[in-house]
Amino acid sequence: MLFDVVTIGTAVVDVIMHASGSKRMLVDTKAGTLCFPLGAKFDIAEKDFLLNSGGGATNTAVTFSRQGLLAGCVAEVGEDVLGALIVEELRRDRVHPLVSVNRKMPTGLSCILVHENGERTVLTMRGASVDLSLSEIPFADVETKWAYIAPGAMPKRRVEEIIRIFEAKGAKVALNPSKAQLAKGLQGMKKILGSVDVLFVNEEEAALVTRIAREKQDAIFKVLDKAVRGIVVMTSGPNGVRVSDGKTVWSAGVFQNKKIVDRLGAGDAFGAGFVAGLLTHEKKNKSAAFSDSAISYAIRLASANATAVVEGLGPKVGILTQKHFQTGARWQKFPIHKNHTQ
Ligand SMILES: Nc1ncnc2c1ncn2[C@@H]1O[C@H](COP(=O)(O)OP(=O)(O)OP(=O)(O)O)[C@@H](O)[C@H]1O
Ligand SMILES: [Mg+2]
Repeated sequence: MLFDVVTIGTAVVDVIMHASGSKRMLVDTKAGTLCFPLGAKFDIAEKDFLLNSGGGATNTAVTFSRQGLLAGCVAEVGEDVLGALIVEELRRDRVHPLVSVNRKMPTGLSCILVHENGERTVLTMRGASVDLSLSEIPFADVETKWAYIAPGAMPKRRVEEIIRIFEAKGAKVALNPSKAQLAKGLQGMKKILGSVDVLFVNEEEAALVTRIAREKQDAIFKVLDKAVRGIVVMTSGPNGVRVSDGKTVWSAGVFQNKKIVDRLGAGDAFGAGFVAGLLTHEKKNKSAAFSDSAISYAIRLASANATAVVEGLGPKVGILTQKHFQTGARWQKFPIHKNHTQ
């Protein structure tokens, strides 16, 4: 089957509880700590509760599908009701589940507590989601224009192998590495970064992999531009994003929020929105994937998608459809600044 995008990474079930209106529940200390009195019980309103599929692979696949692209999701679940729920939800969102079932480990589950300010604490039981091996990825049946890798806690060596195989099949590769992988530094990540067409990191992760202070963004870009084959996307939460292809740096802020419910899934929504933007722009305009207009379109779609996601509960509720993005008045204008560095 020929896909536009195949996502590879984690699939878990998210159980999300939002603490809106229950100030009693949490003591927010200066250190930014959420405290629960031991032995207490709290009621949660229905509107503040959500149980649905999550994890980088499923979240990003849904963005691709809602943008009208043919998407597959490669991940691993357990042989249990939660695994079945993940597969069912993917199908409902027209994503092809290329999901492997682990007969020994349970489906991964995240318990997410959201503070009124949108910040969250995540308790994760990774379960089967980290057991995806190379032999369980149906490479032989899958042709794809792009591979979007959200590897979670996958070992670095396996990420290298997955990239190598997709590269050999002629797919472009987008990667949103985990902190543990980035902690290996530029030398440890050399092989991976040298084969990636789009790298997504937030400021903190960019500083971690380069060992350069996060304030020194120009220096960070200089180093990453050299290490990464393609373009580098550095997100800065509510401060927006900078994108570099080594010659030009595009920078943008964020769309104004109506409200922030929780910032869970902002990174996935941005990354998938960005690649979806490159792909749809390329298809529509028959232009190069990394043309100036393609990158500007990708930044606008990614930013709109991430803002829509932080305005809804959980990582999926707000994900934009193609129609919502194209007809929503608030998403049409977005200032993007360009700076030539070479
Ligand atoms: N509070 C916010 N309001 C509007 N947009 C936001 C907000 N937070 C994040 N975004 C958008 O989402 C993008 C990605 O956010 P961020 O830099 O926090 O990613 P991240 O740290 O990788 O997130 P995650 O924890 O989901 O992996 C930002 O560049 C911005 O466009
Ligand atoms: Mg992230």
